[in-house]
Amino acid sequence: MQVTAPLGVFDSGIGGLTVAAALMRRLPGEALAYLGDTARVPYGTKSPEVIRRYALRCAQFLVGQGAKLVVIACNTASACAVDVVRDTLDMPVVGVIEPGAALAARTTKNGRVGVIGTESTINSGSYQRALAAHDPHIDVLTAACPLFVPLAEEGLAGHHATRLLAEEYLRPLVARGIDTLVLGCTHYPLLVPVIADVCGSGVTIVNSADAVAEAVATKVGASGGGHPRHRFYATDVSDRVKRVGGAFLGSVLEHVELVDL
Ligand code: DGL
Repeated sequence: MQVTAPLGVFDSGIGGLTVAAALMRRLPGEALAYLGDTARVPYGTKSPEVIRRYALRCAQFLVGQGAKLVVIACNTASACAVDVVRDTLDMPVVGVIEPGAALAARTTKNGRVGVIGTESTINSGSYQRALAAHDPHIDVLTAACPLFVPLAEEGLAGHHATRLLAEEYLRPLVARGIDTLVLGCTHYPLLVPVIADVCGSGVTIVNSADAVAEAVATKVGASGGGHPRHRFYATDVSDRVKRVGGAFLGSVLEHVELVDL
């Protein structure tokens, strides 16, 4: 695989920067070309047909930027479009669902796994199928948590409104005995303290971002050191995109190039 070509990463917006950050930590020698479809976000409330169309355009843009591999860093796009993107591109495509499900299947001891995500991700049944492929006996308990996305973007992880919603969303899963919870949305890693607190110490939180970085590492092999130049693209660039994106990435987002798909 060509060393200098970037890893293409896309998401419906800035949330996938949590996956980009995990990739940078795990593969510090690899350059990233990241695309956030900020003009069309959110995907999580849209129909599978529309999500597939948008995801294909994003993936093809990254191919045009010389990507050697494409990471679908969005749970919703992975849930609805990983097959069509794989069938269309002539390169490895890594979605976030399979690595996250594999890690959860390895983690659970009692066979009760909770999955939280957007409505489209939960309705797609993708996590349910991916977990069943690892172990058909796993009991998968799901909850769509749509309001977590704006709360994470507004930096309200510590707000009591977030805590109340977390209790509303998560208590039914905890009451049914889950011992593992998959964060099936790019935004949820920012809410880990409150999610973990509401779930209690008996529940292990699975962050798909780290599992995805591991899956990509097995495909690209050892990554050298150095300071690769990462490139960031978005379909709408505002001060908010840069500010909130920086919080998701964990470092300043200096330059974001506006692109039209
Ligand atoms: N990136 C999306 C996901 O991981 C969350 C935001 C959206 O709805 O587009 O599912």
